[in-house]
Amino acid sequence: MPELRLLAWPAGHSLSPVMHNAALAELGLPWEYRAVAVPPAELPEAVEALRAPGVRGANVTVPHKEAVLPLLDSVSDAARLCGAVNTISNRDGHLHGDNTDVHGFLALLQAAGIEPAGRPGLKTVILGAGGAARAAVYALAGTAAITIMNRTRSRAEELAAAFETAAGPLTVAEAGTPPDPETELIVNTTSVGMELAGVDPDESPLPARVLPPGATVIDMVYRPAVTRLLRDAAARGLPAYNGLEMLVMQGAEALRIWTGRQDVPAAAMRGAALAALG
Ligand code: ATR
Repeated sequence: MPELRLLAWPAGHSLSPVMHNAALAELGLPWEYRAVAVPPAELPEAVEALRAPGVRGANVTVPHKEAVLPLLDSVSDAARLCGAVNTISNRDGHLHGDNTDVHGFLALLQAAGIEPAGRPGLKTVILGAGGAARAAVYALAGTAAITIMNRTRSRAEELAAAFETAAGPLTVAEAGTPPDPETELIVNTTSVGMELAGVDPDESPLPARVLPPGATVIDMVYRPAVTRLLRDAAARGLPAYNGLEMLVMQGAEALRIWTGRQDVPAAAMRGAALAALG
């Protein structure tokens, strides 16, 4: 049976297996998607194993998205610029890396009614400077006016420098600085607010009092479905969206790449993810 894998460490928390298996069933494909627990030291071996003829590809998630790059034969422009791969395809033993988080984020923006190409100069604040922030910057590059804020300022500066040519000047602001009141879009890419063992789920990356009055607020977190940031935004009447649509659509794009099918059932993936989240 053709196989798809998820390389993760630990592997237990991901919604990808239920999403992909629901979609594969709906497509009538006798393929199996399964999570594999890969400790960091075993990543090279796990990637090498993807060259086997029965394996069509894999998703890669925390903590392997960056480390996997040099192990592949080729990567897309988005993956190279973001420095992260979340989707690998096995093309007759040749391993190619993509970053479908960019696609997922663009789909989330669309669900939020934002079409970056039609909104040149869109005043955007991105909170965070990790792999997820890079996908957001890539998606908005060249159109939006982006300010990056991160707890560790040097990482924000590195991100800005990496995208300078593609995105035009990017501004870096100190974490904790109130955003410009004219800001139109706020995107949280940090893990603040996420349901994690030992972490206060009632934290927000941005205090309610500094939320710009005309901004759309997007939180890439989807567990819990309504974070403190989204609750504060909604209480002020701001449009607020969580990251579930990004999760679903990065998966749909990966499945399109692996199967070549244009009719990947995103609705089945969304339904399976929502059911698993309870
Ligand atoms: P991902 O690939 O999901 O973006 P990452 O590269 O580990 O993951 O990045 C996590 C982001 O969340 C970073 O911007 C991180 O800030 P630092 O660069 O300072 O580490 C941010 N983050 C995580 N926990 C945070 C916290 N408690 N407060 C503020 N920012 C936090």
